[in-house]
Amino acid sequence: MTAFLSRRRLLGMPPLLFAAGAVAPLSLTAQPAPPAARTDAPGLIRLAANENPAGPGPAARAALAAATGDAWKYPMGEAMALRAMIAEREGLTPGHVLITDGSTEVLHIAALLAGAGGGELLTCAPTFDYAASQVRAIGGTVRELPLDAAMRFDLAALRAAVAPATRLVYLCNPNNPTGTWLPGSELRAFIAAMPAAVTVLVDEAYLELATDMATHSMVDRVRAGDSLVVARTFSKLHGLAGLRIGYALARPDLIERMGRLKLVVPSGPGLAAATASYQDFEFQAASRREIAEGVAITTAALAALGRPQAETRANFVFFDTGGPAPAFMAAMRQRGFSLGRPYASHPTWCRVSMGTVAQMRQFAGALQAHYG
Ligand SMILES: Cc1ncc(COP(=O)(O)O)c(C=O)c1O
Repeated sequence: MTAFLSRRRLLGMPPLLFAAGAVAPLSLTAQPAPPAARTDAPGLIRLAANENPAGPGPAARAALAAATGDAWKYPMGEAMALRAMIAEREGLTPGHVLITDGSTEVLHIAALLAGAGGGELLTCAPTFDYAASQVRAIGGTVRELPLDAAMRFDLAALRAAVAPATRLVYLCNPNNPTGTWLPGSELRAFIAAMPAAVTVLVDEAYLELATDMATHSMVDRVRAGDSLVVARTFSKLHGLAGLRIGYALARPDLIERMGRLKLVVPSGPGLAAATASYQDFEFQAASRREIAEGVAITTAALAALGRPQAETRANFVFFDTGGPAPAFMAAMRQRGFSLGRPYASHPTWCRVSMGTVAQMRQFAGALQAHYG
């Protein structure tokens, strides 16, 4: 049994608890020139929101263009086709997949189900706090434990902190904003130790950036029928953040209850682009390489300057600026870069998202000039 509540409860009705390869190299620079929208303003490079400025990839662009003429119709068929394709690749049934408006909608629905009636979300901080904010908004409670000394989710502390009111445990792997991650084996042991009344939400928004996703994704536990929701997105590796396509993987009974709270099917052009990008392995591999190179440039520059940093496995780097983060961000803005927001728990730390390799070289130069 899980402790998610159904829409009936949200509507004031009686509660209804539910049971629980090898790829040829591709030069990204060979793609069409980036449009001006890829910067926040002329002359300002956007390294702020963990996007992939290389996207949309070539296949997604072609699909987007072709989908324009279909914009008159409701895209139910397109959503079902993408759902079937994802299910097949993941070894699941279509009933295990919910296509959503960005993975934000997965977090939103999970938060509604968990927070209704005062239920509790348990997580570590800092992390992506959207689910927590939604649980609070619906009158639920949120308990946030600190990350461990290496800025990873502290699974032992979380396990010990589970209480009777806990309905949802949110894990972000790799974690935003720190970029740190936990191997799949540790997450599997954690999920296995959860009481039956608790659902675990594993946010894998950045896991696709790793080449060994199969080892570390919790999709095998979805297949096994655990009380678990995996959230994924087309906003990161696929470079489609503006099109708002994500998905949940979970047991069919969980997907069914989540689906009742879903608002609308995502846009047809967005679905077309996501479907094309899902099959564009060349673009995905090229993006992974570009991001890895950007991370290598950035982490080396920070290390050379003696700046402490979290060990990242994502497309961003979290580092100690050595002073108040807002002042550093303002200084970098003067040098032409917009960066991620400050974090109350880490007032001197800042998150920089990966742009193109050329942009990260510029950023490394700006760091040297700032600290030099
Ligand atoms: C960890 C994490 N999850 C989910 C999201 C939401 O992404 P989207 O709604 O674009 O899929 C983000 C966005 O930055 C994120 O960092």
